[in-house]
Amino acid sequence: MERVEIFEVGPRDGLQNEPRPIPLEEKLALIDLLSQAGFRRIEVASFVSPKWVPQMADSGEVLAGIRRAAGVRYAALTPNMKGLERAIAARADEVAIFASASEGFSKSNLNCSIEESFERFAPLAEAAKAAGLPVRGYVSCATDCPFDGAIAPAAVAAVAGRLWAMGCYEVSVADTIGRGTAEAVGAMLDAVLGEVPASGLAGHFHDTGGQALQNIGVSLEKGLRVFDAAVGGLGGCPYAPGAAGNVATEAVADYLAAAGYETGLKRDILAQAGQMARAMRGAGE
Ligand code: HMG
Ligand code: MG
Repeated sequence: MERVEIFEVGPRDGLQNEPRPIPLEEKLALIDLLSQAGFRRIEVASFVSPKWVPQMADSGEVLAGIRRAAGVRYAALTPNMKGLERAIAARADEVAIFASASEGFSKSNLNCSIEESFERFAPLAEAAKAAGLPVRGYVSCATDCPFDGAIAPAAVAAVAGRLWAMGCYEVSVADTIGRGTAEAVGAMLDAVLGEVPASGLAGHFHDTGGQALQNIGVSLEKGLRVFDAAVGGLGGCPYAPGAAGNVATEAVADYLAAAGYETGLKRDILAQAGQMARAMRGAGE
């Protein structure tokens, strides 16, 4: 059976938007359980401004407190050099930079233009390379932006190409607000594939519109073999109004199994982790 990898982002993308301050022990318990599920990469931390995303303020403690499983890389978001320094101090195994295909979201999420974000990422990518840390890249708003509306595939391809040229080992194209139709995702990927090979791409679908699995299907047809997902379907981006949960890891694992792909994940542990994640959900959910 052909292998497809699920990149677990629940402890970061899943929890960052939760209104209830989640105790460190609960985060550690979730990550320690996920470490037994068979993932090769889990995004567990985000070294962004704690004023912007208070829920991620304890990311250093999270990386210090987890029981690191052999063969698992623990990843962290880093928006700037300060974030990278914090990630290195906390011994993250890889870091991620995140750009937007739309100016409106770049401003809302990073407080700068797309161009300025790349000026920040360039020295970060250099320093990460010097420190031996793999860098992943995200392209937010790859089909739609909560502020600017529909996004042209060429704009997404341009940002993805820049991240790839900067040395990102993988570029994850994200439907941040889960509004992408199969047609829009297909057209976007056709454009992006002109800049980044399928083997260097991942798909990151929020499930606001209930279309995430269908869009994973489209991405599989285009040759993508890595998908981001959050256990329990948690998540949303605090700076993207209307962004509901990430597509649930359990649902993606079942979908891929039914489509004849091997994920290497333990279904019973995923179910337990999904239950734990949902129980962590705060008020308002
Ligand atoms: P800014 O306010 O323009 O930053 O924010 P600044 O450089 O002017 O600094 C202001 C203050 O923040 C200073 O502190 C800095 O030291 C501090 P003060 O002097 O006021 O005490 N600061 C930091 N502190 C800790 N760690 C840092 C850091 N950087 C500055 N790394 C900034 C700019 C980028 C920091 C801010 O906009 C930010 O943190 N944005 C992140 C927002 C975020 O985390 N969004 C969610 C993650 S992205 C996402 O979910 C999308 C994704 O899932 C894909 C998808 O679905 O689309 C990846
Ligand atoms: Mg996301």
